[in-house]
Amino acid sequence: MSTKTISITLKIWRQASPKEKGHFETYHANHISTDMSFLEMLDVVNEQLTLDGKEPIAFDSDCREGICGQCGAVVNGRPHGPEKATTLCQLHMRHFKDGDTLAIEPFRARAFKVLKDLVIDRSPLDKIIQAGGYISVNTGGSPDANATPIPKDVAEKAMDAAACIGCGACVAACPNASAMLFTSAKISHLALLPQGRPEAAKRALAMVRQMDALGFGNCTNERECEAECPKEISIVNIARMNREFFKASFASTVM
Ligand code: SF4
Ligand code: FES
Repeated sequence: MSTKTISITLKIWRQASPKEKGHFETYHANHISTDMSFLEMLDVVNEQLTLDGKEPIAFDSDCREGICGQCGAVVNGRPHGPEKATTLCQLHMRHFKDGDTLAIEPFRARAFKVLKDLVIDRSPLDKIIQAGGYISVNTGGSPDANATPIPKDVAEKAMDAAACIGCGACVAACPNASAMLFTSAKISHLALLPQGRPEAAKRALAMVRQMDALGFGNCTNERECEAECPKEISIVNIARMNREFFKASFASTVM
């Protein structure tokens, strides 16, 4: 089987630490197999940098299967690159042409600090989840599968929201650096299910307040988040989050 190869020019953001100023550096990646993933292409570039005694490019990855949310960079202005519903680790070099020039930079937002090169601090997203707390479940033996009937369409909506991998591309895509798509996915997947209802109001208030406190921007219906989300999380979740939040705010003021 013959493999096609391409040669590309990379302009990659290099930044030694959060305190240093960053800049773009140019690299040439030659004879790159189009069967490689984007991260494998970066691995090849790093191997050469290491052999040349230079500092390899720092970037995050873990599963490389599109499920952990660790990878991510902006490629030619698009978080996770040009392919719809595809994480950077699942993007393949066959989507690029011989002679292309790619600008690669970290996800940028006021709440995301650049730690090194393409690596950002996503812990503000973890803090939003932590603010949501736990759900109440009675301990003991596993309940029967049909003990809590859930309509199929509700289960599917909850499952769709739960597909969010916490990558932060929605924040990077939004001109306001809003984390509303992420937060709404986390609020929705529990709020839709009966197990998540007891703390739904408390959870919506706490998570939205934490999101605001961490410096994420507001939603102005640009829909860039939805367009760039690798898991195709719908902005319908934002409407649901807003309903949950206003209901909870109203209840907390009249109580
Ligand atoms: S909503 Fe989409 S883009 Fe945002 S963190 Fe979740 S998976 Fe990533
Ligand atoms: S490395 Fe896990 S989603 Fe990309």
